[in-house]
Amino acid sequence: MTGTVSERVQKVVPTISVGMLTADMMVLGRELDAIKEAGVVMVHFDVMDGKFCPMITVGPPVIKSVRTDMLKDVHLMINEPLEHLESFVAAGADLITIHPESTIHAHRALQTLGTMKNHNDHARGIMRGIALNPGTPVAVVEPLLDEVDIVFLLAVNPGWGGQKFISATPARLEQVRALIERSGRHILTGLDGGITRGNIGEISKLGVDILVIGSAVFDGPESAKNARFMLHELRQGREQ
Ligand code: DX5
Ligand code: ZN
Repeated sequence: MTGTVSERVQKVVPTISVGMLTADMMVLGRELDAIKEAGVVMVHFDVMDGKFCPMITVGPPVIKSVRTDMLKDVHLMINEPLEHLESFVAAGADLITIHPESTIHAHRALQTLGTMKNHNDHARGIMRGIALNPGTPVAVVEPLLDEVDIVFLLAVNPGWGGQKFISATPARLEQVRALIERSGRHILTGLDGGITRGNIGEISKLGVDILVIGSAVFDGPESAKNARFMLHELRQGREQ
């Protein structure tokens, strides 16, 4: 794949970004090869600091240690992300998503991210995302739209994989779409969390560009088969 990260992603949407939170770290290399084989192009790292949300997960050293040519999608659920951007960029992040709830300077953090070079390949640039917790009014993204390539809505409260999809999410997605429409910019949409075999049929009809899916891929022994199924359902639903 050539071009910037945003250009690469726009060529393959709708697609899934596979959440690593519930992956079996003892066989991670094999798992990554398996999902790549199944057509996955993005892996989603949930970075949590135990302050922004209750869980503590992984940081730049672990993300750097994961050697893959799939795109590294880094979801920063940490306070003051501006202070940490450089270390995640150095770890090879291709997409970095921050939460406006985590800093008073979300705009400046996104502006700063926009000046940074992709460590995998300078020409790729770094795709910028903003993600909202389920309780954050969608209007918060409006002043940030000039500085992002994608808006994610969390369909679960941050902290754990395997939670239930919050039913208010589709209506919030419509609000995000209206704001993007008004901005006149080509900005992608994403949903993160709570997407399962049971609901992907319905969710895929919402026309979302990236679905972040963790436990529905990694729970159980056949992650490649799960990933193939979720990708197929997403693309089927988009055609309806
Ligand atoms: C939740 C994370 C999500 C979650 C997705 O805080 O941001 O990415 O891990 O996992 P599932 O698909 O299991 O809900
Ligand atoms: Zn996430």
